[in-house]
Amino acid sequence: MTHQRILHLLRHGQANAEVTIQGWVRTKRELKDFSFVEVNDGSALANLQVILEPTLPDYSNLLSRLNTGASLQVSGILVLSPGQGQRIELKAQQVEVFGEADPATYPLQKKRHSFEFLRTIGHLRARTNTLGAVMRVRNACAAAIHQFFQERGFLWVHTPIITASDCEGAGELFSVTTLDLHKIPRNPDQSVDFKQDFFGKQAYLTVSGQLEAEIMALAFQNVYTFGPTFRAENSNTSRHLAEFWMVEPEMAFCDLEGDQNLAEEFLKYLFKSVLAACPEDMEFFNQRIDNTVLATADQIIHQEFARITYTEAIQLLEKAPKSFEYPVAWGVDLQSEHERYLAEEVFKRPMIVTDYPAEIKAFYMRLNDDQKTVAAMDILVPKIGEIIGGSQREERWEILEKRIQAQGMNPEDLWWYLDLRRFGTVPHAGFGLGFERIVQFMTGMANIRDVIPFPRTPLNAEF
Ligand code: 4AD
Ligand code: MG
Repeated sequence: MTHQRILHLLRHGQANAEVTIQGWVRTKRELKDFSFVEVNDGSALANLQVILEPTLPDYSNLLSRLNTGASLQVSGILVLSPGQGQRIELKAQQVEVFGEADPATYPLQKKRHSFEFLRTIGHLRARTNTLGAVMRVRNACAAAIHQFFQERGFLWVHTPIITASDCEGAGELFSVTTLDLHKIPRNPDQSVDFKQDFFGKQAYLTVSGQLEAEIMALAFQNVYTFGPTFRAENSNTSRHLAEFWMVEPEMAFCDLEGDQNLAEEFLKYLFKSVLAACPEDMEFFNQRIDNTVLATADQIIHQEFARITYTEAIQLLEKAPKSFEYPVAWGVDLQSEHERYLAEEVFKRPMIVTDYPAEIKAFYMRLNDDQKTVAAMDILVPKIGEIIGGSQREERWEILEKRIQAQGMNPEDLWWYLDLRRFGTVPHAGFGLGFERIVQFMTGMANIRDVIPFPRTPLNAEF
């Protein structure tokens, strides 16, 4: 008999059905006449309660082997549960233990562990309730992302991970090289001779798939890329990772307003889908992690996002009845304390801020008619701050070349990007959603390191 998943049995299992399950022991309770083990197989937050009766062969030896963390297969009969908390349970007829877990050394004994501690056992923490729920929500959210774009005819394009360009121009790049770091080849002027490197030029891990997504949008109209991106920013915060996943749609024949509309529709869709796919997990987050999770989801789905310009945002911040660590003035970039004040205290809901000063935004954003601001948009949400960054792209060749130069970059390095503006250029726009930030926002998890299986942060690349 093939085995069944616990999620399926908890939802649909019928009394008297003969089933086989496989999983790991979460807890064991030994009573006088029989015992319970709670088994989890990762398919659901809830465990399946298994009843072990002394008539089982080698009963007491079996019980001694079934400690928290042990792996097993159980075949038996489903029975309606007389106890509270579960609809059905499994009366064991045959139990096979695959691997024991020594109670003296297995780190996940039945008690609450801090998330800091769990990060030190990244190879085991996926077996906890919280990390399990996070990973199921993460999976449901990823599936919904594809569904959203596929339903709308967007082409999923695979943009490269290794690249020679710095899309954001922020210099936060990890180098990719095969040069011998102990014998670096030098040019006569002592600079590194990258012509001898693997790609014949300096290469990096990508910070964003946007530039290549633009190439594809100018052939397929609507595309998206969804993959890992890398930033060597040395910021040890609860919202930054050195390796994170980003979703980046890019639309030809689209302006900043269309971009904002799509982003808002997208976030609403993701929340709806995850609530439908993972109701128990979302309920768990609301009960155990952050009691505003379900209210926030409801608000995202049903309320319109606030929309203001950067200039209006600065005016609101200048009028704020509180002082900020980073002073506010027109021209400064919004810091996370500013973003959170606006989203949490002024608007109390997600908001879209548009038209930022050209100097503080990337070279590719379209210059507005005022010549001072660009057609940028950031979506800010309570608790997280920026969750989406996007813009209408500069489609005019002369202006784009000037913007590249003004940012201290060399237009020759971006010859192909400029070429797109020479051959069949169109207004186009797109945005990037930080995948871990949306999972964090949905689940209420305080630290971004706990919403990705294996976080990469400064001084940390274990597991
Ligand atoms: O605002 P960013 O830098 O925008 C871009 O990369 C554009 N190329 C996107 C586009 O228009 N196609 O990054 C986009 C989003 C941010 O809003 C944030 O959610 C997330 O990526 N993000 C990070 N998430 C985790 N750790 C980091 N270090 C992040 N940096 C950005
Ligand atoms: Mg940004």
